[in-house]
Amino acid sequence: MKSTKMEHLLSLVICTLLLVKSAEGVAVPITYVQSAVPKGAVCLDGSPPAYHFDKGFDAGIDNWIVHFVGGGWCNNASTCLDRRDTPLGSSKKMDTTLSFSGFFSNGKKFNPDFYNWNRIKVRYCDGSSFTGDVEAVDPATNLHYRGGRIFVAVIEDLLAKGMKNAKNAILSGCSAGGLTSILQCDRFRTLLPAAAKVKCVSDAGYFINVKAVSGAQHIEQFYSQVVQTHASAKNLPSSCTSRLSPGLCFFPQNVVAQISTPIFFVNAAYDSWQIKNILAPGVADPHGTWRSCKLDIKDCSSNQLTTMQGFRTEFLKAISVVSNSPSKGMFIDGCYSHCQTGIQETWMRNDSPLLVNTTIAKAVGDWYFERKGFQQIDCSYPCNPTCHNRVFE
Ligand SMILES: *[C@@H]1O[C@H](CO)[C@@H](O)[C@H](O)[C@H]1NC(C)=O
Ligand SMILES: *[C@@H]1O[C@H](CO)[C@@H](O)[C@H](O)[C@H]1NC(C)=O
Repeated sequence: MKSTKMEHLLSLVICTLLLVKSAEGVAVPITYVQSAVPKGAVCLDGSPPAYHFDKGFDAGIDNWIVHFVGGGWCNNASTCLDRRDTPLGSSKKMDTTLSFSGFFSNGKKFNPDFYNWNRIKVRYCDGSSFTGDVEAVDPATNLHYRGGRIFVAVIEDLLAKGMKNAKNAILSGCSAGGLTSILQCDRFRTLLPAAAKVKCVSDAGYFINVKAVSGAQHIEQFYSQVVQTHASAKNLPSSCTSRLSPGLCFFPQNVVAQISTPIFFVNAAYDSWQIKNILAPGVADPHGTWRSCKLDIKDCSSNQLTTMQGFRTEFLKAISVVSNSPSKGMFIDGCYSHCQTGIQETWMRNDSPLLVNTTIAKAVGDWYFERKGFQQIDCSYPCNPTCHNRVFE
């Protein structure tokens, strides 16, 4: 009796929190991409891929942002099976609405440069950053590794829905989707009309190849397994796969110099996902000494902060190729965060992160419209008072 009441109370609290949260953005309904199914472009479980589409209006009707959402990767049959029947593996399990804010807001004062564009968020359900393509379907598990086909099928579907008339287009993505917007940037360019102004924006997609605190090459091994399981090599830039093993071509640092389409990188130098999963993953920290530091950077010891400064140094080295190219942009803040464009408070608000007194929204808009280039790297933690450092529960 008592626990039922508690549960009721708890669900009320959760409902209220959800309402408050969605009040910031607009809830956009899901579209299942049926046209992808005959192309074999399906989620891990064989269901159709899906996106959420908020239509452009007024002066924005021929402008398009196609954004790929993130959610890690699966690196072998058992981890892919683990996600097959979840929202990250099946459109049958996805929420039927998604909140659009920040870069995806339809409000001029929240998103002055892009509010009236066609804005699409593509759901992630393949586990390979939309690079995989295995013809065979495992009869025992019914697992489909088809992320690369989903990428092309979704773009073709959108071209048919009006993107073939695009004047402006941006391929964007966050986290694993931010990696998609890097790896597939030049392919996106070739799929769009030649006359369109096409650029890419990667948010928190610059995953670097560094050793974990244990000394193990954890992420390098993991990416090599992802690429092998999903047979991604044929969808990775050939300028890289001709030189390096395919797993290494999943790292932006090995492909970015050869990307010819203009691209902008928004990333925290202390990307919280990378600190948690590349630098100090659970397997590299058996005694859990990093646990509280990973949850809240304020709880890191001075030794841990020194290690994190070392991570930043490696990050800056890995992204240094960007500064050689004037068509590329970057906003690298010294914050502990992950994905900053799709959230109003970090995209553009009176207290959002600034570099040289500039919000992410302004930096990306100025760069896209060529009002002003933007390549800025923040000073090191904790120098920037405008950071919104993540605190995990
Ligand atoms: C699959 O990958 C996970 C995560 O790296 C690992 O723990 C597991 O042992 C792997 N399973 C197989 C069957 O290789
Ligand atoms: C920073 O930018 C704001 C808004 O664009 C402006 O009002 C302010 O004067 C700028 N401050 C400095 C120090 O440049």
